[in-house]
Amino acid sequence: MARRKKLYEGKAKVLYEGPEPGTLVQYFKDDATAFNAEKKDVIEGKGVLNNRLSEFFMKGLTQIGVPNHFIKRLNMREQLIRAVEIVPLEVIVRNYAAGSMAKRLGMEEGTPLPRPIVEFSYKDDALGDPLVPEEYIIAFGWASQQDMDDIVALALRVNDYMSGVMYGVGIKLIDFKIEVGRVFEGDYQRLIVADEISPDSCRLWDIETGQKLDKDVFRRDLGSLADAYTEVAKRLGVLPSNVTHAPKPTLIN
Ligand code: TMP
Repeated sequence: MARRKKLYEGKAKVLYEGPEPGTLVQYFKDDATAFNAEKKDVIEGKGVLNNRLSEFFMKGLTQIGVPNHFIKRLNMREQLIRAVEIVPLEVIVRNYAAGSMAKRLGMEEGTPLPRPIVEFSYKDDALGDPLVPEEYIIAFGWASQQDMDDIVALALRVNDYMSGVMYGVGIKLIDFKIEVGRVFEGDYQRLIVADEISPDSCRLWDIETGQKLDKDVFRRDLGSLADAYTEVAKRLGVLPSNVTHAPKPTLIN
């Protein structure tokens, strides 16, 4: 296939020009990074798993009427998505204390929160995506008050959906991050879920054992990241019948 024009390359994905105006091709890489790319590795098969898992979650969201960028999967690593104007925020929803919240407040990881908490980081790698209050977001014009109301409503719907789906396969949704984009339809703009939803951007703990099945396995050196993501995909019935990270064939002399 003729090489498409590359528009953007991030840490885990590449965006190419899509076949029609208003579309993009999103390619999932095997690269894993943490701590703003201070820690890096290539995890064979991760891109394939995240392509499938993000497809699964976005399709589920579509079915319950939560607008998102997913159009269709193209192949093992690529999906067709709607082009959006990304709002420069990481929208984080937390159900249990973990990660940076647990650290900041001296809480034990896994402590249930009194209600889901939505927080925002300003997307800027050079600054390390700092946590920002809503007042900064409005004052600096990154999003309007109306946008913020819509973003919180979207994030909470995603939380309800993801919590339910995960609970159904014995997994607790501790927290997650989404990104939101604007699409323009005539005179109107709408906010939709964009980027990806995958174990790269969630914390997922087995309900019975507490075993971590998300990117913390990589961040904290807890074992095989591909095995953890494969377990999530298997439980959700998402794995294609062919194995995603089978060992490479060995040459027999
Ligand atoms: P945190 O506890 O490190 O702030 O992370 C909260 C959630 O956001 C967690 O599910 C992991 C996810 N996340 C990302 O998707 N990208 C990031 O760059 C960071 C720091 C966290």
